[in-house]
Amino acid sequence: MAKSLAAPVGRLYPRRVTARQVSSQAGPAHPRIRRQGLDPADSSVVRDLTVRAFGADEGPVVADLVEALQASDAYGGLSFVAERGGGPVGHTMLTRSWVDAAAALVDVLVLSPLSVAPEHQGSGIGRALVAEAIAAADAEGWPAVFLEGDPGYYGRLGFERASERGFSRPSVRIPDAAFQVVTLTAHQPWMAGALVYADRFWAFDCVGLR
Ligand SMILES: CC(C)(COP(=O)(O)OP(=O)(O)OC[C@H]1O[C@@H](n2cnc3c(N)ncnc32)[C@H](O)[C@@H]1OP(=O)(O)O)[C@@H](O)C(=O)NCCC(=O)NCCS
Repeated sequence: MAKSLAAPVGRLYPRRVTARQVSSQAGPAHPRIRRQGLDPADSSVVRDLTVRAFGADEGPVVADLVEALQASDAYGGLSFVAERGGGPVGHTMLTRSWVDAAAALVDVLVLSPLSVAPEHQGSGIGRALVAEAIAAADAEGWPAVFLEGDPGYYGRLGFERASERGFSRPSVRIPDAAFQVVTLTAHQPWMAGALVYADRFWAFDCVGLR
């Protein structure tokens, strides 16, 4: 999504991490993933992680989007904080959007944003957060999780090109390869059509690339 979230193919990784760096950072400490709490202190933890991951220019807008989504009816508590060594190191969340299928409007989820503290990037936090989010979505009976992002990254985490699964992009500003989906247990073949983002993504102009 957009200026930042758009997950700009080729821009997803602000810096290249070598295999050697990744393996040396991977370490033994598997992150603990927990649901974000309702208290303001946890909201501030999420805001801080988002701003640090996306940087001073884009971070505040992405953090505002997170808060707006969480205050909207698109949010059902699917927000996850990764911790390592007792401290917060990453965050992601899922919010409800729709697939405009021929037979019916289908509730689906969008994963956005995904934020890992710069000093912990390349050590498996993002992978663990995405895995936990997908597992939670499946357990709640959602049929699919969509995102915009670098297929080189998300393809390794189970995402497929959505257009090859019968879905169309909510905006022509999203490169086809960046529009990705994971279909879950509840998905059925008739659930195909255009992804329609929840309105907060449009209100914050966080759809597609500019
Ligand atoms: C993009 C981001 C979420 C990835 O999270 P992460 O914790 O660094 O990623 P992981 O360590 O889980 O990486 C998973 C895989 O991608 C690879 N990878 C991670 N960062 C990479 C990088 N910068 N370059 C190349 N490969 C990378 C890892 O090697 C790993 O592969 P492996 O499982 O085969 O070892 C994180 O770097 C980030 O917060 N970036 C800034 C915000 C952003 O752009 N978010 C995404 C758009 S919404």
